[in-house]
Amino acid sequence: MMNNPRNFSIQSLFSVGVAALLPMLLGCALTMAVQATAQAPVPDSPAIEAQARAMVAKLTLEQKIELLGGVNEMFTHPAPAIGLPRFKMSDASVGVRTWGPTTAYAGGVALAATWDREFARRLGEGLGRDARARSVNFLLGPGVNIARSPVTGRNFEYLSEDPFLNAAMVVPYIEGVQSQGVVATVKHFALNNQEFNRHNTDSQADERTMREIYLPAFEAAVTKGHVDAVMDSYNLINGAHATQNEFLNLKVLKGDWGFQGILMSDWDATYDGVAAANNGLDLEMPNARFMDAQTLVPAVKNGLVKESTIDDKVMRLLRVGLRYGFLDRPQWAPAYSTYSVADRAVALDGARESLTLLRNEGGVLPLDPAKVKTIAVIGPSAYPAVTGGGGSSEAQAFDSVSILTGIANLLGPDVHVLYSRGLPDMNEVFWKSHWESGVEVATFPSRNFTGTPETAKVPVIAEWKPDWWGPADKSPRCIRYSASFKADKAGKYLLLAAAAGSDTFKASIDGRVLQSSHNVEGQAPQFWTIDLNAGQKVNIVADYLPGFAGVRFGMGMALEKDLVSAEAAEFAAKADVAVVAVGFSGSTESEGGDRTFQLPWGQEALIKAVAEANSRTIVTLTGGGGTDMRNWLDKVPAVLHAWYPGQEGGTAVAEVLFGKHNPEGKLPVSFDRSLEENPSAAYYYPVAGADTSLHVAEDNKPPVDYVIPHVNYGDKLMVGYRYWTTTGKHPLFPFGFGLSYTTFSFANLQAPATAASGSTVPVSFDVTNTGSVAGAEVAQLYVSDPSTKVSRPERELKGFEKVRLAPGETKHVTLNLDARAFSYWDEVAHKWTIDPGKFVIRVGDSSESTPLSAELMLK
Ligand code: BGC
Repeated sequence: MMNNPRNFSIQSLFSVGVAALLPMLLGCALTMAVQATAQAPVPDSPAIEAQARAMVAKLTLEQKIELLGGVNEMFTHPAPAIGLPRFKMSDASVGVRTWGPTTAYAGGVALAATWDREFARRLGEGLGRDARARSVNFLLGPGVNIARSPVTGRNFEYLSEDPFLNAAMVVPYIEGVQSQGVVATVKHFALNNQEFNRHNTDSQADERTMREIYLPAFEAAVTKGHVDAVMDSYNLINGAHATQNEFLNLKVLKGDWGFQGILMSDWDATYDGVAAANNGLDLEMPNARFMDAQTLVPAVKNGLVKESTIDDKVMRLLRVGLRYGFLDRPQWAPAYSTYSVADRAVALDGARESLTLLRNEGGVLPLDPAKVKTIAVIGPSAYPAVTGGGGSSEAQAFDSVSILTGIANLLGPDVHVLYSRGLPDMNEVFWKSHWESGVEVATFPSRNFTGTPETAKVPVIAEWKPDWWGPADKSPRCIRYSASFKADKAGKYLLLAAAAGSDTFKASIDGRVLQSSHNVEGQAPQFWTIDLNAGQKVNIVADYLPGFAGVRFGMGMALEKDLVSAEAAEFAAKADVAVVAVGFSGSTESEGGDRTFQLPWGQEALIKAVAEANSRTIVTLTGGGGTDMRNWLDKVPAVLHAWYPGQEGGTAVAEVLFGKHNPEGKLPVSFDRSLEENPSAAYYYPVAGADTSLHVAEDNKPPVDYVIPHVNYGDKLMVGYRYWTTTGKHPLFPFGFGLSYTTFSFANLQAPATAASGSTVPVSFDVTNTGSVAGAEVAQLYVSDPSTKVSRPERELKGFEKVRLAPGETKHVTLNLDARAFSYWDEVAHKWTIDPGKFVIRVGDSSESTPLSAELMLK
């Protein structure tokens, strides 16, 4: 080893005492090399315009139309006649995932929990570098949809419940991605705030609700982040699918905001070629099924679509290509490597910054490593690492650190780490279920359980596979499983069922339908508990509708307390401290369906069993937002929310538990006690009478007689903390909240007493670390408008700043409030308006804790 000159030089650096600087020096060198080749986009110029026009002029109508649809799942169409190469795409939110293993970051909601704009930029740059390393031209992210309900399956990919926070984070993120010469694609435009039945739900919202809550992050992405691509969502908005929504695409995006880039569809989210072409869609992905030559050539000839409309779409593609130099340079350059140490550091910092400490009774945390001789690490999220949720964002990390290995690595060889998964694997429950006399399987030759079925008898229903996609199967078939279950002992029994991908099912016990969600794509496992007496029998029926070839369905029944392994409680009892790592994962929280509000099956029973055995039980949670904690929160002294912490999550969790890193994440969403108290609860699922029948969307379309379910945004502006602070009620944990191992104080609020409407208002204050360890605080500024003429939320976030402070240190923070900070959307005048008069400015560390306040008169 000493003969290797490279190793030798590294050792000599150590000997001169700069070892600590080494990662930084290497990082700087890498950053400099990468910056040199980054090739950020150039602004549009007359030269680019002229070149693009000349290229369009060389194409026939058919050749132009060909460019409006993608090819091979993840590419745009090339046009060799004009030297236009195909552009490569990749998902997205937590890592550049489409092209093999990658760096898996704490993205989406975890990024929002950092409340750190500079970190958002670093993450964007990291994703941009990862994209370049794979020759990717378009990153299919970030996702910025508002977290309206905690059960929405993709909240984890998005940011927060607040439009200001989303807008503030998305701008540096996009700048970071695009600075590397990669196009960012902000998605899913718009009002895609539910995952159930995503092709068919119709989001019904008024303009003010859209402009104030659901659109500002997209607006900032376009007008401030200069994003070069936008992705339309699957759903309908006020009666028209996003991909053919004139109001959103033409009036708002391309009109009001002046969007100059490419508006693409989500994958198979186009439903009508002429309507999409005329209403703003530029690119149908993953291929042209509707905006193709067969539809558009006659439409142009008949005057249904203008040729200039087609030209505009092609111009947008060419302009973006020219702006980024895609026609002149390879997207890969030697400075970019697929496995990147620099990006690993970004992943670790993201995990560190996002972990949010929710409860720490009696200061049980941080743990003193010197006092821990034996630690029990228990639970399905302990190992393997749960880096992200499920669906198209699922990034496969080269290496990932689980909570188990993170803790063991930190503690070293002298500490006993007792590990148990604590619960069986889902398939084990299916295989071990004892149905009284087997399961009757009736396969019908139809999609609606009619016709004469073929029948068979099987011992168990255990064909669930966690596949998200599968080979298409158009044959008309559906399957009914019928079985009876007899309880050996009295107790609480769990009925667990799961399908995969776009398969759906509906289960019933003794004729009572149990389906608790409106998922049409039904991959999130469903579970119900039922109390049975010893010897009691129940009949179970499950109607299963496969979306793909084969069968991917499982169902089982078991006594709940028998699911928790005996060793979990035994290990916890033997340990000085127990960590229960539970929560959601890719198979329980995913794109394509909603998740449960309750923790996944068996996990509450696991927490209780461990907490009974060891009073020093710390719960870590993985997931994209709030969950039902009513049955266990008061039984454990500490709870750390890990979101989906990416590949380095285990290291960061261990560092926080043992005080090597002071937790600094703040909730980007309010945590409700129950699903019923969430402000969208009364509106989120379609109104009574809407069709929630079991079906699989075929060719993007529901059955002919299908009634499109309306999702009523009747909660209007009252999303998250806007509802809680306006009603004066309190959630379980408020927006903006997160504990630290130190304490902070706020003082010296300075704001002008009067200002002119529309002027920028500076507000400043001091933040002091009053405790004994270094830490970070997020100072949050909320504006109230008590003299408003229209009804407004009691307070709204309009500024924030993350401050890092040594013990005793004070920093003076200045936040500038622009006109928008005081405005609301005037529904009559259709514009942003300020009502002059009294405003109140509040500053503090959460939406409910604002120790500083000042009044301001706007004239
Ligand atoms: C998702 C998009 C994603 C696309 C490509 C769709 O299912 O909704 O967010 O970018 O697939 O993978």
